[in-house]
Amino acid sequence: MGWNSWNAFRTEVNEDKVVGAAEAIVSTGLARLGYTYINIDDGWWMKRRTSDGRLQVRTAIFPSAAVGGSEETSLRPLVNRLHAMGLKAGIYTDLGRNACSQAYDLASPNLPVGTTAEREVGLYGHVDQDIGLYFKDWGFDYVKVDACGIADYEAGRSHVTTLGYRPLKPLLQRGSLARSDAKAIRGLYQEVADAIARYRPTRDYIFSICNWGGANVRAWGKDVGTIWRTSDDISPNWTRMLQSFDTVSDRALYAHPGAWNDPDMLFVGAGDFDEHHLTEARTHFSLWAIANAPLLIGYDLRNAPRSLLDIWGNADVVAVNQDPAGNQGVIAFASDDAQIIVKTLKEPGAKAVVVVNRGLTPIEAVLTAEQLRFAGDAPIELQDLWSKGSSRFTGQTRFKLAPRESRMFVARGRRALADGVYLSEIPGSINMAIDGVAQPELDPMVHRAGWETKGAGERPSYGGWGGAQADAAPYGTTLQVAGRRFGPGIGILSGSRFEVRNDGHQVFRATVGVDDETRNRSLKVRFLVYGDGRLLAQTPARGWGEGPVDIQASVAGVKIIELVAKPADLKAMPTSVAWGEARLIAR
Ligand code: GLA
Repeated sequence: MGWNSWNAFRTEVNEDKVVGAAEAIVSTGLARLGYTYINIDDGWWMKRRTSDGRLQVRTAIFPSAAVGGSEETSLRPLVNRLHAMGLKAGIYTDLGRNACSQAYDLASPNLPVGTTAEREVGLYGHVDQDIGLYFKDWGFDYVKVDACGIADYEAGRSHVTTLGYRPLKPLLQRGSLARSDAKAIRGLYQEVADAIARYRPTRDYIFSICNWGGANVRAWGKDVGTIWRTSDDISPNWTRMLQSFDTVSDRALYAHPGAWNDPDMLFVGAGDFDEHHLTEARTHFSLWAIANAPLLIGYDLRNAPRSLLDIWGNADVVAVNQDPAGNQGVIAFASDDAQIIVKTLKEPGAKAVVVVNRGLTPIEAVLTAEQLRFAGDAPIELQDLWSKGSSRFTGQTRFKLAPRESRMFVARGRRALADGVYLSEIPGSINMAIDGVAQPELDPMVHRAGWETKGAGERPSYGGWGGAQADAAPYGTTLQVAGRRFGPGIGILSGSRFEVRNDGHQVFRATVGVDDETRNRSLKVRFLVYGDGRLLAQTPARGWGEGPVDIQASVAGVKIIELVAKPADLKAMPTSVAWGEARLIAR
């Protein structure tokens, strides 16, 4: 949680704006709620010094950086100032030689200057030197590493030619997973991760991977960084916000404490989410909160109206986002217009829920006990996190939602599974070791929000089709084995292994089989359960059309349960499988 300069100022960031944001975050009480990181985005740099490769700060906009001497410039004074205010400090760089502004903000007054080499301000070839500078010399706590440098500097591009940048064959192809070199990109980000760990052995830092969902980062982001962007840039536009949200909303199983999906920074306060559109602003904030998204304010906080401060400052909504169990919200209902997202909180028997009208006509939404995984015959208490009112219902309740309106509640009731929990309720306790995806594919379910109506419009461009899903089959269909449907469960591909942290439960149980809608109907799969590395239970090989079978294991005293779907042929195209009603129970 914190603030970032980009959505408010683009490259026209400066020290007054950054310090002003920091002072406001403290004086408004937002810092006390957890808004801690003050992040400088693109625009801070002047050049890379020829003599020793040390980066120089643009002191015209960051005057405290003019320290003179052999360093000449340093962001240490600013970082110290932020630290003295009880805050943390973030900096921005790029994985390539050049940054995004050098390709996309050509009218900016704050582009790096000098020779071709001096304008190479990105990490490429300088990882150790720059990361040492940021974390050791300057004392930053957070780095965002962008990827334009490895995507947009192909020989022949007009900015490359006219501005004389050194061309770099793109490792990342925008909109094409197939043509991106995922292995090389992951390798470069890993190099950065290793350097940060060297310079900050205490590990109290954030490494923000910003490659817009490319190179199948969904699968490896958690093993390399702290947060990873899943989409292109958000803009202060309703459909663009939905697009960003859709790139994280069905990926709950890929995130867990310490590793989070990042649908980009908040745009509360601007455009469709400005102070005249508080319905939209609240919905945007509620969706980010329940998706466990980073809450990075992108507004000039020196002049924030009360109505916006009340949104970022809604302690109940922030508490849902920061809940220690770290379970990302899971989609309990979805149509193109309405969605219900449910997040299991740490407090026993408590859920957060957002019911949202994404469309342009009023709707009447129904929320059911079943969606909350609560018993249908016991009262459920709803605490409205925006109006602060409370109400009760049994079974189901309805309410009207205006266009783009949402309601956000904490719900308390009797759990449907009285003595246990479904795995799909606790994604924060799951580590997706191998999701079975052999060939990453673009996700056609993401809301399409093109910048302009040119050409054919938006094609799918974010990886994440197939893989592991909570309460759905890998390609979004209902979990179903030989005609038997499962509400709760994990849908995943064969050739997969995931780990579940066991919180003292005694028994694991599920009903498993090959999913009816699989693409490969000829592959047989065995289901295996391990406890702390020991095989506890397994099924015979199961094929498409064969009825589901029960699998059960005693997991008393087991810390890590591993669930494996092992195909008969490892080279064959994976098949979809269901861990139906997979659950941990007391007995
Ligand atoms: C990219 C990133 C943005 C921002 C800009 C800066 O577009 O995705 O978040 O950092 O670069 O140029």
